[in-house]
Amino acid sequence: MALVVVVALVVSRPTTSHPAPAADGLGATPPMGWNSWNHFGCDVDAELVERTADAMAANGMQRLGYTAVNVDDCWMAPQRDPRTGELVPDPVKFPQGMAAVADYLHARGFTLGIYEDSGTETCAGFPGSLGHERLDARTFARWGVDTLKYDNCNHGGLTSTSQYIARYRAMSDALRATGRPIFLAICGWGVNHPWTWARGIGQSWRTTHDIKDSYASMLAIFRQNVQLAAYAGPGGWNDPDMLEIGNGGMTPTEQRTEFTLWAAMAAPLIAGADLRTLNPDDLAIYSNAEAIAIDQDARGAQAVPVSQNGTPAGTGGLWVLSKPLADGSRAVVLFNSTDSPQTMSTTASAIGLRGATFGIRDVWTGTEASNSGAISAELAPHEAAFLRITAQTP
Ligand code: GLA
Repeated sequence: MALVVVVALVVSRPTTSHPAPAADGLGATPPMGWNSWNHFGCDVDAELVERTADAMAANGMQRLGYTAVNVDDCWMAPQRDPRTGELVPDPVKFPQGMAAVADYLHARGFTLGIYEDSGTETCAGFPGSLGHERLDARTFARWGVDTLKYDNCNHGGLTSTSQYIARYRAMSDALRATGRPIFLAICGWGVNHPWTWARGIGQSWRTTHDIKDSYASMLAIFRQNVQLAAYAGPGGWNDPDMLEIGNGGMTPTEQRTEFTLWAAMAAPLIAGADLRTLNPDDLAIYSNAEAIAIDQDARGAQAVPVSQNGTPAGTGGLWVLSKPLADGSRAVVLFNSTDSPQTMSTTASAIGLRGATFGIRDVWTGTEASNSGAISAELAPHEAAFLRITAQTP
């Protein structure tokens, strides 16, 4: 990937505004961590959760901000406790119970995430929370749970938008009533446009169906999520699902592209891989501190697609994205989603910056340039350039 500086332009553009942050302080920045589902499915237990946290402490990910350790479906026993009605952890998978796992994680600076469903059963057929929201929220709070991913299977025909809102609000209210701050990750797969109603109910909302470990799936999800920039901001984030980096279904270039796009979109950075055995190249992608800083930027704006010379953003599979950052600079992505090499370009004015000279820093190579103009990059198929552009002189 080569950076070529072309010409100076000094027109200013309005920057994106985004919604006001939530009062409870949850989700001020997109969550970062790990979730068991995409790599392990139902094969979860306390040992996996704790060894994953150990790996994140040892490999440096925790220091970079990956502190959420989230167990997904299949942690439960098949029945509620017949005496109390409470959810019961699978006694073989979690022999000491969930509070012990929470204690282990908290003692090491991690948080515990758990999974439930807003219907009668989870997607894998374990007891759901519909009608049990107060009790289940109290159980989670007592165990020391910090995040709840709340799914959408077996909803018994409660499919209208107002019924979705009621199902998710019931758990949201129940969590608040416990007095423990618990991040609510709404997992309604984008059905009924949660970005229009979920802010204030949860702190993130899945915008699409499940990601698969392939470039085609990642691209399809990006194309949906990238349209929703107006709805993201501190306290509520669009969630395009987990990072597949390390699962083997994408090339190194495609994996780096996923990380670039997710960071530019201020998405939750939740690794869906086996972090105990991550190879150094995949770990390096997860560990790009400059990309993480862009994702976590305090302004909390999601990158907007930039149109080029009158053609809508994404035309021909070529995407330019611009994310305004708290210090006034811009993160810029030039993404060649096509199957052939492409030269792509944009300008300082097109990405909303005003000035005469600009600093251009390549987030992946660390290359710095200082110049007065448009930026272009030669990109391999499926490659994305990730740049931080700063106006240096007015
Ligand atoms: C749904 C969710 C996934 C995962 C599974 C678990 O498909 O979207 O992310 O939680 O359920 O069964």
